[in-house]
Amino acid sequence: MKNVSNFHPSVLADSLVPWWERPGLSIQDDRLVIAGHDALALASKYGTPLFAYDLDRLEDNFFRLYNAFARQEHPFQVFYAVKANRYAPIVKTLQALGLAGIDAASPREVHAALEAGFPEERITFTNVSVSRRDVEQLKGLNILLNCDSISMLHKVADIDPGRRVGLRINPQVGVGISENLTYAGARATKFGVYLDALPEALRVIQDRGLRLQGLHMHVGCGWTGSAITQFFQAVDRLINIASDIIATFGPLEYLNFGGGLGIPLKAGDSSVDVNLYAQGIVDRVRQLGLGIKVCVEPGDYMVKDTATMLSEVVMAENKGGVNFVGVNTGFNVHCGASHYGLFQEFIHTERASQWPTDTVSIVGNINEVIDVFAADRAMPPIAEGDILAMINAGGYGTSMTSEHCLREAAVEAAFSQRGNPFATGE
Ligand SMILES: Cc1ncc(COP(=O)(O)O)c(C=O)c1O
Repeated sequence: MKNVSNFHPSVLADSLVPWWERPGLSIQDDRLVIAGHDALALASKYGTPLFAYDLDRLEDNFFRLYNAFARQEHPFQVFYAVKANRYAPIVKTLQALGLAGIDAASPREVHAALEAGFPEERITFTNVSVSRRDVEQLKGLNILLNCDSISMLHKVADIDPGRRVGLRINPQVGVGISENLTYAGARATKFGVYLDALPEALRVIQDRGLRLQGLHMHVGCGWTGSAITQFFQAVDRLINIASDIIATFGPLEYLNFGGGLGIPLKAGDSSVDVNLYAQGIVDRVRQLGLGIKVCVEPGDYMVKDTATMLSEVVMAENKGGVNFVGVNTGFNVHCGASHYGLFQEFIHTERASQWPTDTVSIVGNINEVIDVFAADRAMPPIAEGDILAMINAGGYGTSMTSEHCLREAAVEAAFSQRGNPFATGE
């Protein structure tokens, strides 16, 4: 057995490679390299905060999932939940592949998807607290409309009579990386039609002349590994509901199982076995025996590990016994840690494989206590002027940018070592 106690804690016990290293994210001579570019050189060329994207990784992520479903030989559609990241090179890359759809969470996202060239039938709209104005803005479009409430069904019947609709169900079983990322389960949430309200929702669809096209669920985000068992419990619930509905309403065109697939965030984390995921879903849908199309709509899984956030250390000081490392950005450009408590891995761009000597808290430049990227983190020596890399920054970062404290948005640049035409950096 190897003695690994002299290696950086991000190194897995049975290997000398950091857990996060992969094609497009590696170490050369102790320096971090992103999509073939020296991270420090990128920071000085583009300025910081910088989100450096690897478009090749996006393609790999998409095809890993797509191929897992293709192998099942059953009708399917992968939609990308564009709320996770709407950076143009990401959206254009997926559009150009000609296989992906878009899941939109607002009429503006729907219209952006149309402008990007996605056909109407490959766009879904799934959202909560939907207004009459929202429905008016979607009227006449042949997109898949997943209705989230009885209220929304009435609005659609008023504004777009006779429309085909999907119904978002809350199966009351959920799974997520944390409570705030669990959308269904013991705690009541605002999402979907609950089982006790289902008879009324179905009555409204029938009485008001709407046509039921499909069912939808999205039960939580960020789950990995063995949590798939709990995800399948929710799938089973939806299958049972679908079976009952088909018995009275006739066949459905699609069942949409939402997104939620997570990725490893730290050493030792598991990933999602996408073959198990696709097979588990399709096998269950096949039991219904009708060739119903399987839909999924991941966001994070597609984009989270496509971007690395580079920021400059502007303050390194012990305060109250804590070694604070302050960087030149904050939760205004990435709120994964501050809002959702997510673990965000940091790498020193010039000491990428060095043994950590210090325990630090990496904090942002927003005037809020919660503006912490990483607490009590073991890092190599850090000084003002150094550039730090936060990996897995591609999901729900820049798309949630705010103007809090009027701090700047980040610069974004996209790279590809395979000649992707939508790369913006060279
Ligand atoms: C309805 C719906 N679908 C898909 C997603 C995408 O989730 P994730 O990025 O975790 O895959 C979300 C995220 O909130 C959602 O609300």
